[in-house]
Amino acid sequence: MNNHLDSTIFFLNNEIDFCRFIHSKINFKNYPQHIYIENTNACNLKCIMCSRNQMSRKIRTMTLNNFVKIINNLIELKIYPRLTITGSGEPLLDRSLIDKIRYAKENHFHVSIISNATLLSEEKTIALIKSGLDRIQFSFDSINKKTYDKIRIPTSENRKSYYESTLRNIELFLLLNNNLTKKVYVSISSVQMDLNRKEAEKFKMFWHERGVDNVYLPEVMVRSGKGGENRVNDKNDNQRNEIKAKCVLPFIIASIMSDGNISICGPTKDELTVGNVLESSIENVWFGKEFTNIRDSILRKDKKYLSSRGIMCHECDVWEYGNSFENYFEFNKLRNEKVIKYILS
Ligand SMILES: C[S@@+](CC[C@H](N)C(=O)[O-])C[C@H]1O[C@@H](n2cnc3c(N)ncnc32)[C@H](O)[C@@H]1O
Ligand code: SF4
Repeated sequence: MNNHLDSTIFFLNNEIDFCRFIHSKINFKNYPQHIYIENTNACNLKCIMCSRNQMSRKIRTMTLNNFVKIINNLIELKIYPRLTITGSGEPLLDRSLIDKIRYAKENHFHVSIISNATLLSEEKTIALIKSGLDRIQFSFDSINKKTYDKIRIPTSENRKSYYESTLRNIELFLLLNNNLTKKVYVSISSVQMDLNRKEAEKFKMFWHERGVDNVYLPEVMVRSGKGGENRVNDKNDNQRNEIKAKCVLPFIIASIMSDGNISICGPTKDELTVGNVLESSIENVWFGKEFTNIRDSILRKDKKYLSSRGIMCHECDVWEYGNSFENYFEFNKLRNEKVIKYILS
């Protein structure tokens, strides 16, 4: 089987089971649709909206051996979730990144990375393109130098700005990528905040003219009230006493941190761990007691239990963007139409 067939068949079967689960809320047996793997939590920037600013974990880079162990665990389980190499760090700081991508690709996974592109060079660009990587998302946030510099702040005091060099790096990536037949799908993102919101149209035009495949403009998110300086829904603060929606993330995403711990929600939350996949296995942690209790209490909107475990769903905005049981179908219509066509065919 070719690699996309493996991951597409896995995705469709898993999605069908998940749609059934959304309706019945019984018999949760889904594996994660998507796995985030944090190859490193080291970073060379201190972006204003990033929850890494509140990170208390030790800085570490996942060894190639541990990465291989995780991939082998998925192969044993015969599951092919989409893999995104990202987390609270900059993936390009990891010297074994290319070997990690190669190993996952040799074993038929769909692999993406999310990078700030500041550390790209011609050599790294060629290595990434040749590694078989399927998708790359560059986080650029603004084409206006002043705005970019206010958002993407270097950690090194000697470094004034990454704006010009990063722009050149991305343009070179696009050029070299377009010269090859097996292209990496390139997406450029700008997290939408008050600082850059008015530039959105210009941002889109600028990057479409340069031939990117996708421009992604996600709203700044607040994960459990710890998203950074830009709270989206400040106006709703007085309503933050109850869980407004049942979040799907702990049902569809496994976020593996650089130490092997799984966090319950997304790549940027570091305290809420439910087990370690290197000490145990993905299956044991994903279907384990800790994770199951948390999922059950999300379905019951049991704020008391969740808060007692340090899980502040009632303060979180993430569910608003297609990530809740209540709006899952509405936001994922296109994807689900494909699933329905598949069921009916
Ligand atoms: C945490 S970063 C890690 C990868 C890499 N360091 C980078 O900046 O691309 C992953 C993505 O999350 C985005 N991000 C950071 N803070 C965010 C927030 N509060 N809301 C939404 N997206 C955020 C970043 O812009 C980036 O595209
Ligand atoms: S958004 Fe990425 S580059 Fe910026 S601080 Fe967070 S992890 Fe680092």
